[in-house]
Amino acid sequence: GRRRACGEGSSELATRRRALMQVGIKLPIEVLWTGHDAVPAGKTTLDMRPPDRLLSRGIRHVTMDQLKRQAAARALEHVRDGMKLGLGTGSTAKHFVELLGEKVAGGMRVVGVPTSEATRADAERCKIPLTTLDQVDRLDLTVDGADEVDPALNLIKGGGGALLREKIVAAASDRMIVIADETKWVDVLGRFPLPVEVIPFGLAATQRAMAAAFAQCGVSGQMGVRKGRDGHVFVTDGGHWIVDAHLGRIPDAPRLAGLLNAIPGVVESGLFIGFATMVILAGANGIRVVERR
Ligand code: A5P
Repeated sequence: GRRRACGEGSSELATRRRALMQVGIKLPIEVLWTGHDAVPAGKTTLDMRPPDRLLSRGIRHVTMDQLKRQAAARALEHVRDGMKLGLGTGSTAKHFVELLGEKVAGGMRVVGVPTSEATRADAERCKIPLTTLDQVDRLDLTVDGADEVDPALNLIKGGGGALLREKIVAAASDRMIVIADETKWVDVLGRFPLPVEVIPFGLAATQRAMAAAFAQCGVSGQMGVRKGRDGHVFVTDGGHWIVDAHLGRIPDAPRLAGLLNAIPGVVESGLFIGFATMVILAGANGIRVVERR
């Protein structure tokens, strides 16, 4: 696989790679460090002490939104003229759409498939040519956000309610780059409530089957039908509902994903297993890129 490091001496890089191995990042994942002090951490303290070279300028404050935009900008480096792109949903993916729009305005030719009606509106505003999965065969690359990412590059998605189209688009893509601020990186998925898109008919039966699937995986927790800001049940772009499951920890996410998908009333779960080929995490002190070989 490729290795790349910017802004660091190679011995420092080797030390960090060793440290990374010790915290459990295993093959087949390759980690590419860029920037300064991009230390793996479960949570980012955004006003943490900056690298020494910046001390004279005082504490460097980085907003979450700036981090998201940095991750989006790094993903844009993987976009080539002529590509067919899946366009993700959420506040981070929105940055990518806006930056891509600037490239298109500058003459880059790409075509996009949006993963939600919200992203469609953003892409149209940015004048990105759009297509559908009925009109193109495969997509070269999907760039999307995530709610959680684990060291195997498995994801929880669906915090924005677009998980079904996001999964259909990711499955039709040769590669998927996930962009996020580094607070999304977790050792074990599940702290973020797991979104499960369900058919409204027979909801109670579906939830009982979900509880049984959770029990088989040794997990449990409260389930709730998602409500919108207006207090009404949130309805997805596909006309379905979302049950958020507060599980805390999902030790075997691939197994749970399989069990949930076997339930008739479940349309899809927010567990994205084996989709992401690269994750770009922006933190206060640098960008961390984790790639599946
Ligand atoms: C949308 O349904 C989600 O899968 C989003 O990709 C996820 O919630 C990330 O959103 P943010 O970038 O806004 O955190």
